Amino acid sequence: MGEHFISDTLNKENSEFDITLRPSRFADFVGQEKIRERLELFVEAARGRKDVLDHVLLSGPPGLGKTTLAYILGEAMGVNVKSTSGPVIDKPGDLAGLLTNMERGDILFIDEIHRMQKTVEEYLYSAMEDYVIDIMIDQGPNARSVRLNIPKFTLIGATTRSGLLTAALRSRFGMVNRLDYYDAPKLQSIILRSARILNVDIEEDGAMEIARRARGTPRIANNLLRWVRDYAQVKANNLITVEVADKALTMLDIDEHGLDEMDKRILETILLKFSGGPVGISSLSVSVGEERDTIEEVYEPYLIQEGYLKRTPQGRVATALCYEKFGLKPNAAQQELF
Ligand SMILES: Nc1ncnc2c1ncn2[C@@H]1O[C@H](COP(=O)(O)OP(=O)(O)OP(=O)(O)O)[C@@H](O)[C@H]1O
Ligand SMILES: [Mg+2]
Repeated sequence: MGEHFISDTLNKENSEFDITLRPSRFADFVGQEKIRERLELFVEAARGRKDVLDHVLLSGPPGLGKTTLAYILGEAMGVNVKSTSGPVIDKPGDLAGLLTNMERGDILFIDEIHRMQKTVEEYLYSAMEDYVIDIMIDQGPNARSVRLNIPKFTLIGATTRSGLLTAALRSRFGMVNRLDYYDAPKLQSIILRSARILNVDIEEDGAMEIARRARGTPRIANNLLRWVRDYAQVKANNLITVEVADKALTMLDIDEHGLDEMDKRILETILLKFSGGPVGISSLSVSVGEERDTIEEVYEPYLIQEGYLKRTPQGRVATALCYEKFGLKPNAAQQELF
């Protein structure tokens, strides 16, 4: 599965660039108003009581600002943020090591928390609830359990797949927030802010053109801005207008709705090979030559949100909009599925 598509490659974390453009205060965090307000209140209340922030879960598709919010919370609480990820903690001892090295109030950020091993997850429960961790030392006849006290801390968990989280883990978070895709005007202001930081000349319409084609995702918006900037530098005197943005994005095979080649391949496969569906995720994955997880985490949520695809208990089904996009007419049986 060596091919790479825009929505996948342009949404991979790029540390240097992500960090430069990552807002560090709530005031610079665009959109997601409800979540922002809730979190700001949460912080104010905890600070007012001189208490530690309760555990927070952030879920949503890649590139929407989960890591950014974790760091904003750290900044707002005036505490350290220690960052790790689910698959990296491979034994309970690793978790104990992380937690015993924290100061009161510090944040432990666990990315991809749904990919944490079950054996480690169970240790996390007592850590989150009672701030203790019971660890086994030695083996065989000398094996014994030692209780370690850990400072009162905040766990911030991030996940692209909240459905894969156990109920036990989920219930231990004081607050659960689901980030949604951003609308074009929000992405436009993110792009204009990034352009200021990067010293790029861009017209408001040019920013809007990029925004409309960025799959509702700030990270993609920023990465497209970088691409369009390069294009403008070589072909258009360094100024990003609507026309320049359009030409640059068309060169990446991103269509006027922001769909890329893989999106189209997925939709066409459902329409033509599976006559509109329903089709199960495994068959779809084999047919389009893309990993199941990537389809479920990256492509499908956006196609569903934009109304091209529907998820039913029997599988994925093409919608009326999907037929229309490809200039096809659904038959009666297919219309039944809408
Ligand atoms: N609300 C926002 N306002 C401005 N910029 C944002 C916002 N959300 C995200 N960004 C930008 O997008 C980049 C990606 O966001 P972030 O790394 O927080 O996403 P993520 O949800 O953690 O993604 P992943 O699931 O891939 O880890 C950030 O570095 C930042 O530049
Ligand atoms: Mg992240």
